[in-house]
Amino acid sequence: MWGAGALRYGGDYNPEQWPAEVWREDVALMRRARVNLVTVGVFAWSRLEPEPGRYTFDWLDQVLDLLHDNGIGVALATPTASPPPWFSLAHPDALPVTADGVRLHHGSRDTYCAAAPAYRAAARAIAAALAERYAHHPALALWHVHNEYGTTCHCAHAARAFRRWLAERHGDLDALNAAWATSFWGQHYTDWAQVDTPRATQYLANPGHLLDFRRFWSDTLLAAYAEQRDLLRAANPAVPVTTNYVLGDWVPVDHARWAAEVDMVAIDHYPDAVDDGAEEQSALAADLARGWARHGAGGDRSAPWLLMESAPNQIHTGGRMHAKEPGRMARHSLSHVARGSRGVMFFQWRAPAGGAERFHSALVPHAGPDTRVFREAVDLGAMLERISEANEGTVDADVAIAWDAASGWALGHPGMPSPHLDHRDEVAAAHRALWRAGFGCDVVLPGDRLDAYRLLVLPALYLASDATADWVSGYVREGGHLLVTWLSGVADEHARVRLGGHPGALRDVLGVRVEEFHPLADAQTVPLSGGGTGRLWAETVRLAGAQPMDTYADGVLAGLPAVTRHRFGAGTAWYLSTRPDDATYRRLLSDAARAAGASPVCPTAPAGVEAVRRRGAGASWLFLLNHTDRPQRVPAAGVDLLTGATVDAQVHLPGGGAAVLRESDAAGRRGAPDRADG
Ligand code: GLA
Repeated sequence: MWGAGALRYGGDYNPEQWPAEVWREDVALMRRARVNLVTVGVFAWSRLEPEPGRYTFDWLDQVLDLLHDNGIGVALATPTASPPPWFSLAHPDALPVTADGVRLHHGSRDTYCAAAPAYRAAARAIAAALAERYAHHPALALWHVHNEYGTTCHCAHAARAFRRWLAERHGDLDALNAAWATSFWGQHYTDWAQVDTPRATQYLANPGHLLDFRRFWSDTLLAAYAEQRDLLRAANPAVPVTTNYVLGDWVPVDHARWAAEVDMVAIDHYPDAVDDGAEEQSALAADLARGWARHGAGGDRSAPWLLMESAPNQIHTGGRMHAKEPGRMARHSLSHVARGSRGVMFFQWRAPAGGAERFHSALVPHAGPDTRVFREAVDLGAMLERISEANEGTVDADVAIAWDAASGWALGHPGMPSPHLDHRDEVAAAHRALWRAGFGCDVVLPGDRLDAYRLLVLPALYLASDATADWVSGYVREGGHLLVTWLSGVADEHARVRLGGHPGALRDVLGVRVEEFHPLADAQTVPLSGGGTGRLWAETVRLAGAQPMDTYADGVLAGLPAVTRHRFGAGTAWYLSTRPDDATYRRLLSDAARAAGASPVCPTAPAGVEAVRRRGAGASWLFLLNHTDRPQRVPAAGVDLLTGATVDAQVHLPGGGAAVLRESDAAGRRGAPDRADG
């Protein structure tokens, strides 16, 4: 769906919060900003169905007609993330219950249990009513089901559904007892009725139980999405259906698995750093979305995805808001488009006067359209029109980084050796090091094809099934280059530790055997003999075929290997037993990538200038984003689509500025296009 062509531009639009005169101003301003897609109705359930079965669609009819008359498409949402107050009063059993047994009440949003039959029936009913009325409305470009699935519950409905799910996954109680290692602390189950959701416990909960609960919710929420999708699709198969993914460790959603069920992956992304961490986070989120999109039906490395929500202005960090500097909104947006997003959408169009998110940023802020933010929104709309030809093709990436939702969930469990074990952080650290060194990265999942990549990086891939272990060793045996970080391959898919020395599943390919962990205190670092430092973690690594490449220089581990390299089959496998400081990590990953034959996207780009290349049929586009506040020059040639200027030898980027270059043939030619697309 949504092949090459115009980039989508717009955001969440909540006309139900405003009188009709404001709608007319909204549409005039949208036209000025060249907005072509708005998400409508996300939280409008109580305005669409004020009492059970009585629908008030008249205002939505007018809004959709008005938008259509002005050439603006609609991503029409089903409002099921926020049931009306009448629903909770009529169905108290469908209100969510927390792990410690507190039943929550309406007054915010997401107040439902997606395993409760009454909620599911009500959600289907409102979705069906919307489908019946609007499935053939000419403004309808996309169905947006729900909002940010992720809410869990411990009520009786959830417990019953969890038991059914467990019986299907494990077959019988013996298998469940084995998977959860219930002999520990006498948790052995003898009847399914004894199995509950992981409620609040006196002391540490069972890791296998917690992990399956996450998996259960991923499947349950997916089923809730799929039943809405099916009835929307049935009403008009020509209109694509999706839901917006929320990113975060708390989310019990396996986004890659969901990709097969949506017509296009859509993500919401809000960086929480104010320095260049925000740019890195945007790059990682976009690479993740592209990696998940490959898992869609017929997905490949150029599968479309969409940035469905982002913030026009403020970055929220530590409970405070930080205004984005001029130009930053555009650079964040271009970074997503460079990485394959079919457009740029924001939360939200117009800032509300009241409600919990009254100070969230908007394209039309409280101060109105005569503002820097709205002027930047107008500029961005024009930019996106000018670069629409770059809305196709694959993104150059020589390096693959593995992502695994379940490893993230398992590393967050209590009883781990350190409080700072986080799959996302480790993926982000490796991605940051490669981002700073200028290498393009794809995110892959265990089992994905790897023949497009020079180097595979596994950051804290804690859970490894036998199939994952075979995937890794097969890749290296056949000549692949691999870099594995601490805490990978330690446990199996049930979160049971593999015995015989860590990293159990990957010992052979790495040629090491880890005897002991040495988690480091928060501010503690350990010197490495190569000059850098390690933090967070260290290990007693015994060589079993690998060579030491760097050693610990002090303390109980002095002289023992910290970084190793192993020839395995026709390939090479590196192991890092600590988190190196940023400069050391960057050097290590650059060395491993270059040794593997990878090259940076634009080797001549100066520090602080991000370079991403998209490659389509017969053309390539180089996106250059200057994240510094100083002017920068980048040797490159082509036509800058943002200005229309021909560039013969050097692009001049103003501080905070950007260029999107349609490259002259010679400049865009790939160094080593010798491998098939994954
Ligand atoms: C999410 C939600 C939006 C809004 C934003 C605020 O992405 O989908 O409704 O709450 O966060 O950042």
